[in-house]
Amino acid sequence: MIQPMDGYYIGLMSGTSTDGIDGVLTQISTPPDPTQKSVTGIQILASASLPLPETLRDSLLALNTTGHDELARAAQAANTLADCYADVVTTLLQDAGLPATAIHAIGAHGQTVRHVPESGYTIQINAPARLAERTGIAVVADFRSRDVAAGGQGAPLVPAFHAAQFGNKPGRVILNLGGIANLTVLSAPVRGFDTGPANMLMDAWARQHLGVLFDKDGAWAASGQCNPQLLASLMAEPWLGLPPPKSTGRDLFNLAWLRTHLQTLPQAISNNDVQATLLQFSVKTIRQAIEQHAPDTKEVLVCGGGALNTHLMHTLAQALPCTLETTQAHGVPVQSVEALAFAWLAHAHLCGYAACLPAVTGAPKATIAGCLYPA
Ligand SMILES: Nc1ncnc2c1ncn2[C@@H]1O[C@H](COP(=O)(O)OP(=O)(O)O)[C@@H](O)[C@H]1O
Ligand SMILES: [Mg+2]
Repeated sequence: MIQPMDGYYIGLMSGTSTDGIDGVLTQISTPPDPTQKSVTGIQILASASLPLPETLRDSLLALNTTGHDELARAAQAANTLADCYADVVTTLLQDAGLPATAIHAIGAHGQTVRHVPESGYTIQINAPARLAERTGIAVVADFRSRDVAAGGQGAPLVPAFHAAQFGNKPGRVILNLGGIANLTVLSAPVRGFDTGPANMLMDAWARQHLGVLFDKDGAWAASGQCNPQLLASLMAEPWLGLPPPKSTGRDLFNLAWLRTHLQTLPQAISNNDVQATLLQFSVKTIRQAIEQHAPDTKEVLVCGGGALNTHLMHTLAQALPCTLETTQAHGVPVQSVEALAFAWLAHAHLCGYAACLPAVTGAPKATIAGCLYPA
């Protein structure tokens, strides 16, 4: 039974890029079920982004692979992350001029450190009880596990929200350029899947060779030349040929994976040529996914931090056989879409709406995403 739970929600997202926390405070006055859609909708009242403190980022990145005493390190990182989440909540409440008691719930994604749905688990580092305690607001967290338990990928989670927010036009696709790129195909039935890396490999390469968190505006990539042999080697990755539903993460696409491909080249290539090739790899995997799985696409709306990479956006616009815009042009800033999705998912949870879509995740049934920690 779907209960109406209109009101204020906060969404907190920290994605695979480990760049920071994006938060929004939103007023939702539309049922989560799109068939009952009302006109009032979803309004952003405040948004905030907080870069992850460097020590926390390093801890979270280290937790992506096995290591000494990782259970204790994971618990400590979760607590620190929850404290950063609480700081974002405080900023949002101040900006919106609302007390904590006005908020129905926070949707807090947590930080993915393992995602292996085929082995039956996905792990998001998070401390929702601590966040509820710190803020005095109910927290919905652990959004992926129930779908994985039901046999799905537990990802992507955002397509149901994309459909609620942007789903009024045939031939429209939403493309999120986070660490990983994921597509939502809005034509019924709504589908969604990961296409491969968006920024993750480029970020890792820039971090290793330039000591920066990311290649601003893609300028370093633009200074190099795409190497066709390396690109062909990357494109031969078997995961890319799998049909949806599918999802991926750092478990597969990481610097060790890149190194094995670099070693197949007859001679070394310059670091900026590698960066240029990685950018083309992201573009080509996205184009291939659209051609193969959404050939009727007329319009792509881009969100996520990659939408701010001007060289990436320019290269994508040239490569895709359809129009390319950002979600900003449709009312939602590119860095707020994912956070807004988690506010919406928290709302869907309280309403009892099953927002994990089987056509997206491959689970045999729709499940209610998340677990509630009361205020
Ligand atoms: N001005 C910019 N130029 C190039 N890349 C950018 C820019 N701003 C953000 N990014 C990219 O966006 C990433 C963050 O995107 P985000 O949507 O937060 O991803 P995630 O969900 O994985 O955290 C950064 O790591 C960086 O790669
Ligand atoms: Mg991010």
